[in-house]
Amino acid sequence: MTTAPQERVGVWLIGARGSVATTTVAGHAALAAGLHPFTGLVTAGPEFAEAALPSLDHLVFGGHDTAPTPLPKRAEQLAEAGVLPPGLPVAVADALIRAEAEIRPGGPQSDDPRDDQELIAAFAADITTFQRRNDLARTVVVHLASTEPVPADDAPRAPASSLYATAAIEAGCSYVNFTPASGMHTPGLAERAARAGLPHAGRDGKTGQTLLRAVLAPMFAQRALNVRAWSGSNLLGGGDGATLADPQAAAAKNAGKARALADNLGETPEGTTHIDHVPALGDWKTAWDHIAFDGFLGTRMVLQTIWQGCDSALAAPLVLDLARLVARAHASGISGPVPGLGFFFKDPDTPPPGLAEQYRELLALAERLAGRS
Ligand SMILES: NC(=O)c1ccc[n+]([C@@H]2O[C@H](COP(=O)([O-])OP(=O)(O)OC[C@H]3O[C@@H](n4cnc5c(N)ncnc54)[C@H](O)[C@@H]3O)[C@@H](O)[C@H]2O)c1
Repeated sequence: MTTAPQERVGVWLIGARGSVATTTVAGHAALAAGLHPFTGLVTAGPEFAEAALPSLDHLVFGGHDTAPTPLPKRAEQLAEAGVLPPGLPVAVADALIRAEAEIRPGGPQSDDPRDDQELIAAFAADITTFQRRNDLARTVVVHLASTEPVPADDAPRAPASSLYATAAIEAGCSYVNFTPASGMHTPGLAERAARAGLPHAGRDGKTGQTLLRAVLAPMFAQRALNVRAWSGSNLLGGGDGATLADPQAAAAKNAGKARALADNLGETPEGTTHIDHVPALGDWKTAWDHIAFDGFLGTRMVLQTIWQGCDSALAAPLVLDLARLVARAHASGISGPVPGLGFFFKDPDTPPPGLAEQYRELLALAERLAGRS
């Protein structure tokens, strides 16, 4: 079974009014209208031309959020901050209004009387209604909500990300976890998704410091250089920066960054990674890495890197790539973790860990989706 070009595909964003989600919806509308080139969109390349991915103008957006500020207002705020080009919120106003009309209240709010099962049922009903109303062939649920703390063993209720992942399964949807949250990693859920014939991909988008680490760490390993210590520091404003000021939320994020190093180097090097909230930086992140290593005869050397990126602009095209690839994987009968998508994640469900090998695996997935392997 293939995704016919005329099939409409839903993209249901959890955290639909956040910076990444707003940039995704506004950016999608800009690309679909031909207002901007496809810079940053991996699946726009010729390697994917025959993979029968849903075309951009057949994607329909909706989602859940717990915050009230409507998408058009969020887009204006992002344009004022320089994340979106000036004038873009006006140019794509219709698309923002359409997506805003498809956003439903998320949860749980602190005073929410509903138990976990009631919340799952409500979320699944919202997604199912969205699918019917828009006559969608299938929907991909993409988790883009604020980073959750690592769940405590004695927590009174399941993490919100697990409730949304369960709702995605109950609504018959594929699932992408772009954050470090539990999501489909909740015990039993991945097996349930696979039994239901649903593909999923995660977790935590690889957009900056870890992207660089996935290139540099294999280089040290392949050149037989001995990494003695790898230390990192991040300065970040924006909503994500505010969330990551909580050490519990930062711990979830840093665990994925450390795993990327351990998987590539064969052991965890000395050194820690910090995330500091600097509100004045807004959506711009500065990530500094200091890598102390030994060469021939134990000669000591250091590599330092500084990455200055606009987080939402780096993340949004990957959200579109993942939605297209996972929707197509679903249509072609792939279930469980989708091999080849580790290229996009800090803490991938499927090996290998280095970026070059991950890209080869992604191209192998494109061949499979094109029906050639
Ligand atoms: N930007 C990047 O480069 C990047 C890379 C990897 C991962 N991420 C992850 O993507 C996520 C979104 O980042 P952002 O910059 O858009 O953050 P943001 O703070 O701007 O947006 C998060 C949104 O989630 C909403 N939310 C919080 N709890 C919710 C719930 N229970 N249900 C529904 N919505 C809820 C918030 O109201 C907010 O609108 C974060 O978890 C971040 O760690 C971002």
